[in-house]
Amino acid sequence: MTKIALLGAAGQIGTPLSLLCKASDLFDEISLYDIVHAPGIATDLNHIDTRAKVSGHLAEDGGLQKALARADIVVVTAGIARKPGMTRDDNVAGFLDLFKTNASIIRDLFTEVAKTCPQAICCVVTNPVNSTVPVAAETLRQGGTYDPTRLFGVTTLDVVRASTFIAHALGGGADPKSFKVPVIGGHSGATILPLYSHAVPKLCIDSAKLAQVIHSELLLPIYFDLKLMTSSLYAGVQFGGDEIVESKKGAGSATTCMAYAGFRFIKALIQAKSGTPVVEEAYVYLPGIQDGKEIAARLGVDYFAVKVELGPNGATKVFDIGSLSDGEEKLLGVALKDLKANIQAGHAFMGL
Ligand code: NAD
Ligand code: LMR
Repeated sequence: MTKIALLGAAGQIGTPLSLLCKASDLFDEISLYDIVHAPGIATDLNHIDTRAKVSGHLAEDGGLQKALARADIVVVTAGIARKPGMTRDDNVAGFLDLFKTNASIIRDLFTEVAKTCPQAICCVVTNPVNSTVPVAAETLRQGGTYDPTRLFGVTTLDVVRASTFIAHALGGGADPKSFKVPVIGGHSGATILPLYSHAVPKLCIDSAKLAQVIHSELLLPIYFDLKLMTSSLYAGVQFGGDEIVESKKGAGSATTCMAYAGFRFIKALIQAKSGTPVVEEAYVYLPGIQDGKEIAARLGVDYFAVKVELGPNGATKVFDIGSLSDGEEKLLGVALKDLKANIQAGHAFMGL
């Protein structure tokens, strides 16, 4: 019996992610939780001819507890997404504080996870991931159930983008999936560090073009309006999220590609649960996972996205980041500075 609980299931990521889970035949039970619409979405999904039984829950009548009961995997996409011009943790003149809103949602949901399904493997999609994962970790710790091997910040979208964008840049109809590019660091702007020097197969690309693929900032929306967008004007991996936010003009951020990426991570967890170890990148608490202490000490941060080996009960070990090119070393320095501030923000929210 495998049960997954999706929290924030009625959202723009939650709904397509629920569909991918239901269509996959990987689950016996799927529970959807949201403050709106979840029961109706569950009824809709239950007309699909796969074996998973889908239930939908709202906050009333212990809905969250019911959704989490006996869950093996919990995926959290509950929260608000940013609007054009905002960062993932913006506070727009005190009117929309993305960070505080999402951090509060994460704290409240994980308070219940600690009580109801302390053994579950938990995946945090809600932004700002660099800070919401420390918030989730501290909430679980206060609930007495924190195990760093079972808490992941989902950074798979960065990995998907790193393959996709290099294939686009190289042109010639290259299949994005044929490029494996590790992405380390965190999940926002300069903290996202794709390691193209480690790409498989080895890349042959000039350095100016590669710099664009990594961190070309999004050009002004006017380029979209004037339809001047060409491949050289695409945002790089570090700013891929901004490209979608601007393109959607206030209607949201990455949703379908995020559901795709989130489902890739869920599939990896399920495969690992059935006894085949899988390696995926994720944002984790390094000192709590085998081989992570040395990496954390060297980098000077505890939370970091790295390659993680997944086993039946979560992370079994992390892999060293290896040697970097000179350019990547410089980008790592910038990433670490931002990341420290993001982790600190999460800790400060939890009163640490
Ligand atoms: P959305 O607004 O469409 O959906 C969010 C859902 O959360 C809504 O249905 C809302 O009702 C629900 N919700 C709000 N408060 C809740 C609570 N207390 N309990 C349960 N549900 C609650 O947003 P979205 O586009 O689905 O994005 C969700 C989050 O994912 C955002 O924070 C976004 O920035 C983030 N995101 C992360 C990544 C990543 O790579 N990690 C990628 C894309 C988006
Ligand atoms: C992304 O990378 O697309 C997400 O984190 C959403 C965002 O706000 O950019």
